[in-house]
Amino acid sequence: MRRLAPALRLDGADAELIDLIKSIVAACKEISFRVGQGELSDVLGSTLNENVQGETQKKLDVISNELLKDLILETGSVMAISSEEEESTVAGNPEGRYLVTFDPLDGSSNTDINSLIGTIFSILPAPKGADPADPAIFLQPGTAQIAAGYILYGPSTLMALTTGKGTKMYTLDKTYGGFLLTTEQVTIPGVTAEFAINMSNQRYWQPAMQSYIADLLKGKEGPRGKNFNMRWIAAMVGDVHRILCRGGIFAYPRDLKDPSKPDKLRLMYEANPMSFLVEQAGGTSTTGYERIMEIQPVDIHQRVPVILGSKHEVESCLQYHQA
Ligand code: AHG
Ligand code: MN
Ligand code: MN
Ligand code: MN
Repeated sequence: MRRLAPALRLDGADAELIDLIKSIVAACKEISFRVGQGELSDVLGSTLNENVQGETQKKLDVISNELLKDLILETGSVMAISSEEEESTVAGNPEGRYLVTFDPLDGSSNTDINSLIGTIFSILPAPKGADPADPAIFLQPGTAQIAAGYILYGPSTLMALTTGKGTKMYTLDKTYGGFLLTTEQVTIPGVTAEFAINMSNQRYWQPAMQSYIADLLKGKEGPRGKNFNMRWIAAMVGDVHRILCRGGIFAYPRDLKDPSKPDKLRLMYEANPMSFLVEQAGGTSTTGYERIMEIQPVDIHQRVPVILGSKHEVESCLQYHQA
C-alpha cells in the first residue's frame, strides 16, 4: 500500500505542501492517540471557557487546537492560521506560501460518549506580501483551496484528503505509525435513499426544507416513490464520511430557533473543506441557493446553511428551493 508522501507526489504536490500536510497529520496522530486513551489521558470533559462561537470548550477542543497551531506554524511555510477555537487569526511566517484554517475537533459533544469525532482542515494560498496579522487574507472563496481534508477518530483513524485531483482515503497504520492509501478514488453514488438532518429543528426550518423532508418522510406512497432511511451522528465528519462511503444527503439548513444565529456550520472550518472533498468525489454542495465553494467570505467565523452529498438527491432538494 502506498504511503502518504509518495501518493501526494504522484498527484503533483510539491515538497513544501507535502511537509505541511505531514505536519497536520502529525498533530492528528497525537490527537488520535490521546482520544484512544480516553479517560486514561485526562482529555475528556469540559473547560470553564467559552470560545468565540459561544460554545463551552471541551478539553479536547483546546488540546487539539494547540497541537495543530504549534505544528502548523513550526513548518515555516504558513503565513497564518485561523481556527474555530481562536477569536482572531494567528500570524506565522510573512514569507509563508500557505494559510491554514481548521476545526480542531469536530463533534465536540461526542467526546464524552466515546463516539465519532474528527479534525477538519483547509489549505489556502497566502497572498504575496500581505500582512500576516490581517484576517482579511483568509477571505477567499472555497474554490481557491489548494487542499482540504478531515481525520476521523473512529474504530480506525483515517483521513480523507483532496488536493484537487479527486478524493482519496488513507488509514492510519498504528503498527507502522503512518497513513496508508486505502481508497484511491472516492466516488459518491449519485442516487441515494438516506438523509442526515437534525429533525429536532424541523419546525424552525424555512418552507423549502420543510416540504423537501416532508416528502422524503412520505416514503413509497409520496412523490418520491421510495422509502428513505435517516442517520445523524452529530459530528459533521462522521456524517460526511458515511456519505463519501455509501452516498446520502446531509443538511444543516437555516433555522429560526435562535434568530441571532440562523446557520450552524462554519464556512471556513467546516463547509468549504467538506464541499471540496464532496465535489472531488462527484457529489454536490450548496446552501440551497448557491454553490458553497463560490461564496465570497466576509468574516472568518461566518456560518452558512449546508446541503451536500449525492448529486441527484441534492438536485431534488434544490428543486424545492427554486419553487
Ligand atoms: P463542533 O463540535 O466543531 O462545534 O461542530 C459541531 C457541528 C457539526 O459537527 C455537527 O454536524 C453539528 O454541529 C451537530 O449539531 P447538533 O448538535 O445540532 O446536532
Ligand atoms: Mn465547537
Ligand atoms: Mn465542527
Ligand atoms: Mn470544533
